[in-house]
Amino acid sequence: MNIAVIGTGKLGATVGLRWISAGHDVTFGIRRSGATTSLIGDSPTATPEAAANANEVVLLAVPGAAVGELLISLGTTVARKILIDATNQLGAHPMHALAACRHLAPSAVTFRAFNSLGWEVFADPSFAGGRPDLLYCGPIGEQARVVEQLITDVGLHPVRLGDLERADLIDGWTRLYFALALGESMGRHLAFRLLSPSNHD
Ligand SMILES: NC(=O)c1ccc[n+]([C@@H]2O[C@H](COP(=O)([O-])OP(=O)(O)OC[C@H]3O[C@@H](n4cnc5c(N)ncnc54)[C@H](OP(=O)(O)O)[C@@H]3O)[C@@H](O)[C@H]2O)c1
Repeated sequence: MNIAVIGTGKLGATVGLRWISAGHDVTFGIRRSGATTSLIGDSPTATPEAAANANEVVLLAVPGAAVGELLISLGTTVARKILIDATNQLGAHPMHALAACRHLAPSAVTFRAFNSLGWEVFADPSFAGGRPDLLYCGPIGEQARVVEQLITDVGLHPVRLGDLERADLIDGWTRLYFALALGESMGRHLAFRLLSPSNHD
């Protein structure tokens, strides 16, 4: 898969490097030379516009408040592509940037994923209790299978939580994560796993 990761901070760098390790072609979108790229080594970079234009999947890994400006600059480059909103505006409601995605990238196929756990979990998803689950939401179909594969490729188990209307529920999981990781001092290397009769490994 060819993937543009926009943002080279903790989240974008961690997930992007995991995808490179899994065999994907990742280009990191950086907004200016001299931007924070220390976490991505010598991985390929381009402007956000060029990265989005050249790839089938675009992961938004920038501050939530920057998504509108970013999508305006991306213009039609994301049309009909898989657009994954991993951004959070902590303390805001909603925490996601799906309204901006809907208005500024209406023909992208948009998903909410990779937002509900700390980067530490994506960097090291191994836990004694087994592979963690990662909730995502978005349309069913071929693109959802791609998103599920990308979740699997960072070592987590994908769990679809319906259409984008369910994004607030996923964001509730994010708030739970922070309440436990920080509020209850359990630490950020913390994840969740659902139990059911058809449970995974
Ligand atoms: N950190 C986590 O554990 C985690 C987990 C899940 C979700 N998230 C979410 O993921 C997003 C990124 O988090 P982070 O921790 O990786 O943040 P971060 O370390 O602050 O990195 C943010 C990145 O976004 C870039 N950026 C900022 N504004 C931009 C713009 N207008 N256009 C292009 N790039 C821009 C920054 O580039 P410059 O170097 O040019 O400033 C930087 O590379 C946030 O929305 C966060 O809530 C984070």
